[in-house]
Parts: sequence; structure tokens; C-alpha cells
Amino acid sequence: MSIDLAIIPVAGLGTRLLPATKSQPKEMLPVGRKPVVQYVVEELTKSGIRRLLFITSRGKTSIEYHFDSDNELVSYLRQTGREEQLRDVVFSHAEQGVEFFYTRQREQRGLGHAVLCARPLVGDEPCVVALGDSIIGIHAQSNIVARMVEEFERTGADLVVAFEEVPAKDVVHYGIAEPKGSAGRVFELADVVEKPAVGEAPSNLAVAARYVFSPAIFPALAETPPGKGNEIQLTDAIRRLLRQGHKGIGIRLEASERRFDVGNFATYFRTFIEFALADEELGSELREFVAGLLAEEPRG
Ligand code: UTP
Repeated sequence: MSIDLAIIPVAGLGTRLLPATKSQPKEMLPVGRKPVVQYVVEELTKSGIRRLLFITSRGKTSIEYHFDSDNELVSYLRQTGREEQLRDVVFSHAEQGVEFFYTRQREQRGLGHAVLCARPLVGDEPCVVALGDSIIGIHAQSNIVARMVEEFERTGADLVVAFEEVPAKDVVHYGIAEPKGSAGRVFELADVVEKPAVGEAPSNLAVAARYVFSPAIFPALAETPPGKGNEIQLTDAIRRLLRQGHKGIGIRLEASERRFDVGNFATYFRTFIEFALADEELGSELREFVAGLLAEEPRG
């Protein structure tokens, strides 16, 4: 794959998940056996990404520790004969040629600003942007990024955005695609409308946390004034590019690669339950346990 660089913004405060996120990043919350951001890294490296640039902020250093070697832990597990657990903590990133880079967004100025912080390091290269709080597909089994890069190259577009079909009543929560013509599996973008009212949405395809951009995104972000919440919105820069005549492509996620966003408690709880129920070792036992709980008389 020609693009091997991904920006992973993880600098947000995660205020919707307080108090869980008071002193730990939302991207490090466990989903089943792993923290959210580990699924994101596994998905990206499976799709050929080899350079991962995290946009972090205060309080996010545990993400750096998580992907670093921990020789003390490794020798302890080795000495105590826990080979199985060793496999879980020793990542094979070095052998795969995967490298980790970190830079800080010093002020909370929005997702668009977080991506702009990567500009001096990315320079004139195309890159992937993957939100660190969203997993694609159960246990991250998705090659959406590889497909997006293929379309980026095939179509010569300046931006490719992943979209997920959402129920019509939910369009109010997302950036929604306005396709040119009818929206097949891959379609050309006319616009992206931020949080439209039900009935006014141009489609029910919601932006789904994965993007591919040509370097044209950086001047567009630099020119984008702060919008909602006084933050620089990535969607505003995408709209700017589309209005300037840059080509934008949308790709639908398949039914098997739902987006699991852990940004609020409702979606985090659901994601945790679904991943835990799909756990190879403990899933079926847990299923019985939950079925038992649900069958109990409601307590009043
Ligand atoms: P959200 O829109 O969920 O914002 O970010 P947030 O600040 O993390 O969470 P709340 O709204 O306070 O609960 C989507 C993605 O963009 C990153 C987040 O880390 C997350 O991966 N982000 C957001 C930044 O990197 N910087 C920002 O200034 C805002």
C-alpha cells in the first residue's frame, strides 16, 4: 500500500465519560481485554500502516507507555513461566517495521486543529486519519483503510471518507454525506452536512472515524475559522475542500464492520458488552450469565 502513515488524534478531554476519564484517556478504556486504542492500531497495521503519529495532550502518556516495551514486566512473566501472557504484552510492531510517533496538541481547539498539529511532521505526504476512540468491526476486523487508500489512488481524489448507515432519527448526531447522485458502495461526495435535522438530511450515511487525505487538507484546515464550540472542525475543512472543487469520495462500511464509538457511556457500555460476549474463552459463559440476569424478575 502506498500510504503507510496514519494520524491518530487522541487529545480530546473525553468529558462525556467523566468521571472515568478524569485521570485516564478515554482511548485507554478497556473494551473486553484490550484498550480501545490497541484495536485501532491493530486495524491500521493490518491495513499496511507502518508509521503511527498520535496527537496527544496532557494526561495521555499512558498511551505511549502502552505501546512501549516493558522489560521488567516481560522478564517477570518469563521468570514465572507465563508464556501465554507474554504473547499479549509483547507487540510484534518492531518486527513488522511499525513505528510510533507522538506530538502534543497544547490547547483543546478541536479535531481539525489536532490534525493540523501533524502538518510539520507529515509535510507533503498523503495520510490516513483514524480517530482513537472508534473501533471498526467487532475485534477490529476491518480492512476499510486499505480499501479507502485503494480508492484514493484509483480516483485521484483529495479526500476519502468512510460512512456508516445510521437510522434516520440519528442523523442529528453526525456529519452526514450528501452524495453526487445515488450512493452505491463507493460514491462521489457533493458535501457533508453537520448534524442535519431529521427530514432535512441528504442521506443517512454518517461520517465514520476514518479518512484519507492528500496534503491539500492542511491549508484547508489552516484557513478554517473556529466553528461550533469555538473549535476547528475537520468537517468544515472537508466542506471547504469540496467547495474549492477538490474531489471527495465516500465509502460505505460493510454490515460486518460496524463502527464502535466509545465517546459516551451509552455507546461505551454497548461496545464493551458486545466485545465481551464475543470473547473466545469467556463469551459463551457470559452469555448465559447475562441471559440469567435478564430472566430475573425486575427488582422494584
Ligand atoms: P470528540 O468529539 O469525541 O471530543 O473527539 P472529546 O473532547 O474527545 O470528547 P468530549 O466531547 O469532551 O466527551 C473525537 C476524536 O477527536 C480527538 C479525540 O481525542 C477523539 O479521538 N480530539 C478532539 C482531539 O484530538 N483534539 C480535540 O481538541 C478534540
